Amino acid sequence: MITLSPSLLAADFANLTKDIDMLNRSEADWLHLDVMDGVFVPNISFGFPVLQAVAKICKKPLDVHLMIVDPGKFTQQVKALGAYMMNVHYEACPHLHRTIQQIHDAGMKAGVTLNPHTPVNVLEDIIQDVDMVLLMTVNPGFGGQKFIEHSIQKVKKLKQLIQSTESHALIQVDGGVNHDTAPRLVAAGVDVLVAGSYVFGAENPEERIKELKGL
Ligand code: DX5
Ligand code: ZN
Repeated sequence: MITLSPSLLAADFANLTKDIDMLNRSEADWLHLDVMDGVFVPNISFGFPVLQAVAKICKKPLDVHLMIVDPGKFTQQVKALGAYMMNVHYEACPHLHRTIQQIHDAGMKAGVTLNPHTPVNVLEDIIQDVDMVLLMTVNPGFGGQKFIEHSIQKVKKLKQLIQSTESHALIQVDGGVNHDTAPRLVAAGVDVLVAGSYVFGAENPEERIKELKGL
């Protein structure tokens, strides 16, 4: 069964309690949290004070996607949230192996994210050490963007790499997930879908979550 991680970025920031209560009731598996610093990506979202407030009321495992420079610096702060998954960008980590080790030492699952232009084969020598690979299917920084079609090929390539190396890494995708792209992504081998505007823009988000879980 597909794992679904709705992205808080598309929620109502003036009423987060309402949206998180809905997620707690729903069939969603994780909560995806997009942290942006205005340097690694051209936007700023939310930081630790907001994450702490969210962590207090959210009953789902936290899937933290750090779109920031030097993400390893914040490992202990992410751990203090009780996060399940800490995801860092390949492009932001010159010492990725060390960063992954630090995340594991802190007791969290470690994910690595690739921007749309970063080829899958750069992961050859780290794929056995990570728990998840997040393929960005839009350029990171904003919700509601158009899905990059080439991503389907990338998912297939990543699946091959995972199988040929006997890695246990899950494949997650993030950006432009909707009724058209989600079934094709699942067919290509995706394990975890992130969805922001498609979930929170729905008239009945709980129903939409159910629909995506049924894929
Ligand atoms: C974009 C974020 C995504 C975003 C996806 O930088 O990483 O998680 O919320 O939004 P949608 O699903 O609307 O494309
Ligand atoms: Zn994200």
